[in-house]
Amino acid sequence: MKFNKEINRRRTFGIVSHPDAGKTTLTEKLLLFGGAIQEAGAVKSNKIKKTATSDFMEIERQRGISVATSVLGFEYKNLKINILDTPGHKDFAEDTFRTLTAVDSVIVVIDVAKGVEEQTEKLVEVCRMRNIPMIVFINKMDREGKDAFELLDEIEQKLNLQVTPLSFPIGMGYDFKGIYNIWEQNVNLFTGDPKKDIEDTIEVSDLSTSEIDDLIGETSANTLREELELAQGVYPEFDKELYKKGQLQPVFFGSALNNFGVRELLDCFIDIAPPPRPKDSDIREIKPEEDKFTGFVFKIHANMDPRHRDRLAFVKIVSGKFERNKPYLHVRQNKKLKFSSPNAFFAERKEIVDEMFPGDIVGLHDTGNFKIGDTLTEGEVLNYRGIPNFSPEHFRYINNADPMKSKQINKGIEQLMDEGVAQLFTLEMNNRKIIGTVGALQYEVIQYRLEHEYGAKCSYENINVHKACWVQPENEKSEEFQEFKRVKSKYLAKDKQNQLVFLADSAFSLQMTQQKYKNIKFHFTSEF
Ligand code: G4P
Repeated sequence: MKFNKEINRRRTFGIVSHPDAGKTTLTEKLLLFGGAIQEAGAVKSNKIKKTATSDFMEIERQRGISVATSVLGFEYKNLKINILDTPGHKDFAEDTFRTLTAVDSVIVVIDVAKGVEEQTEKLVEVCRMRNIPMIVFINKMDREGKDAFELLDEIEQKLNLQVTPLSFPIGMGYDFKGIYNIWEQNVNLFTGDPKKDIEDTIEVSDLSTSEIDDLIGETSANTLREELELAQGVYPEFDKELYKKGQLQPVFFGSALNNFGVRELLDCFIDIAPPPRPKDSDIREIKPEEDKFTGFVFKIHANMDPRHRDRLAFVKIVSGKFERNKPYLHVRQNKKLKFSSPNAFFAERKEIVDEMFPGDIVGLHDTGNFKIGDTLTEGEVLNYRGIPNFSPEHFRYINNADPMKSKQINKGIEQLMDEGVAQLFTLEMNNRKIIGTVGALQYEVIQYRLEHEYGAKCSYENINVHKACWVQPENEKSEEFQEFKRVKSKYLAKDKQNQLVFLADSAFSLQMTQQKYKNIKFHFTSEF
């Protein structure tokens, strides 16, 4: 209870979007408001540009930069805000899913012209399943796009959300005049000046007076009145509790590039977004205000210096106070570890700190002890759940191309898998190694990193796998399970946790197998 004040002033969130909707621009504008950066362009360098989709060298370069922007911490109105960066590139979707296990809320950015896009759908689905509170920001209002109601409809239908607008646009694109802030009951007029950082808003508490006509003209004022009336009729009133439960999503409109509507978003965010939430472990729910420190690793970042294979493990603090040089239990390895230089993250820099609190992300230097999902505690044996592996989309055999370097390649593969770059499956039949990835790009990344960081060479070979399913028999000793193992031995592998996985070669064979072996469950994620 000693540090309730610290917990309550923390807001840790992620911004998700389809690439190009404006996530980077919005992040940057939020940092500008927080005074964490002085000029635009600072975060941009972190972005994997679309032109670089097949250029993994570029990604490697970005990887170096992105250590500094993985967590962007800043102070705003006496709150400590941490933005967790999520890669927009779809080949790194799994990184994003994992980062979402460490956020307490999310802002979803949608492009006014493109509406709901594929990547947004996937990410929002994950947030929805976890009941993460979400605020929607419709961006690029300075451009021609879809009508506000059409977009709200689309969001409800495609993303399966219950929305309510907390701001409303006045015109759009060429005719964009500004927004009416339903939350604060004022009008913010659009000037198109991206440099202006304090937005002048005009209080308009009564829309029926002519005040608003004077500001935006009679026609626009009438349209706004009609639209707001319609919105009020169609959408539920905002309810903070429902938002916190992930059952109601407020929507804001603006233009990140023009620094417009961002202040409104941020001010509402700090009013409504939740402080750190309790988290389930395998034995009980852990509350942030508990005395004893607990946390979990959600991301591992290898250093760019190939000579020192040190890595930075990102730990989300769930409860208690993290202290420098205090021994903590690494639950999986059952050993105590002390950290003499834990890092706290601020925009663009990290600093060694003595103590940190729930909601914060601490960066721990690691020489190979950690893997994604590991739990640290003050002694209690518990494991945080919720960072499952999903079935990869691509599968290839990995071969050692330099027989003199088999030790190096094995070590390299093991460490890259711990970092969560891809998943490793070892065939039961002949111990051949299969690498499963979300995107084809990861194969190049792995090959490059094995060579540059571990001095090992690999080659790939195609294999026909449709999906990986984690196998759970009702009874390990049953005839049925023994037969399954015998008949399907060619398709069985172990994952890195030694769990049994069925690598189905087609949707048809998967379906047939499921039908035939009724007492065996086939899961599409590694946690069940
Ligand atoms: P992302 O991180 O979601 O991928 O998107 P990012 O912020 O990089 O924005 C993608 C593009 O959209 C950028 O243009 C950016 O300038 C533009 N953009 C962002 N917000 C707005 C907005 O409110 N209005 C308009 N009109 N454009 C916006 P780019 O040409 O791809 O990059 P750059 O050359 O500007 O860096």
